[in-house]
Amino acid sequence: MERPIGVFDSGVGGLSIAEAIFERLPNESLVFFGDTARVPYGNKSPDTLRRFALEDAAFLMTKGVKAIVVACNTIASLGLDELAQRFDVPIVGVIEPSARAAVAATHNKRIGLIGTRATVASGAYEAAIQEIDPEVSVYSAACPLFVPLIEEGWTNNIVADIVVDEHMRAFEGRGIDTLVLGCSHYALMRVALERHCGSGVTLIDNGGPTAEELEQRLRAAGTLRSDGPQPQHEFYVSDLSSNFSQIAQVFLGERVSAVRQVSLEEMREWMMVWNGAPWMVADS
Ligand code: DGL
Repeated sequence: MERPIGVFDSGVGGLSIAEAIFERLPNESLVFFGDTARVPYGNKSPDTLRRFALEDAAFLMTKGVKAIVVACNTIASLGLDELAQRFDVPIVGVIEPSARAAVAATHNKRIGLIGTRATVASGAYEAAIQEIDPEVSVYSAACPLFVPLIEEGWTNNIVADIVVDEHMRAFEGRGIDTLVLGCSHYALMRVALERHCGSGVTLIDNGGPTAEELEQRLRAAGTLRSDGPQPQHEFYVSDLSSNFSQIAQVFLGERVSAVRQVSLEEMREWMMVWNGAPWMVADS
């Protein structure tokens, strides 16, 4: 049997990356996990986030995945070494590919970054961008109100516009020509962000660059699937709200035939099954 690709995020944001993977790699099957019981991740401490990441990845491993896409910038901003050491499949993050795309897009070497508090505080994007081009200036702003709005599906209305205007004031006078949406959720806010930024600013979201990186990693591992039977996709969440299913249907249409719930208790059991180390398991 062909092994699927695993994707995890704190919630609906990861669907934007799943969509980009479907577009780029239409022959691949995908198992998605959204940790909707514990969203938002963006204001949690690094220790808690590390434990969540291990649980989420262990759950995907129990589904036999051949690669794990960490669709959550907040997790990726802590570094992926621990996941790479524990799980013997390619671990693909969102930060380096998105940083490369931003550096390729900027003409004036002034890039804006928006993300969760944890991602912005980590400085991971600045480091990734400046490693590629030390002459680029990066200006960043945390946008803590975006994720709750997006999880509610309020992405293209007057409230979204007001919140976008307020958060984007941080970039006034900076002259940025490129803006990295450094949170998988923010791709769902793209229309309101475009309305605010106008045509002079290129928006870079995680989906396309991450799907491209995934393709390269699968090719290098010799596990890229170029044909074969119809791919099968599975969607799991830790709390099954009607919001998730609705947004998933709107975003991915018929590819989402069912969304299943996996409880935090089951996650803990999977984690113990995976490595027999109950001390690794996070509190809910
Ligand atoms: N979607 C996640 C990210 O890319 C975080 C959103 C959250 O749970 O705060 O950072």
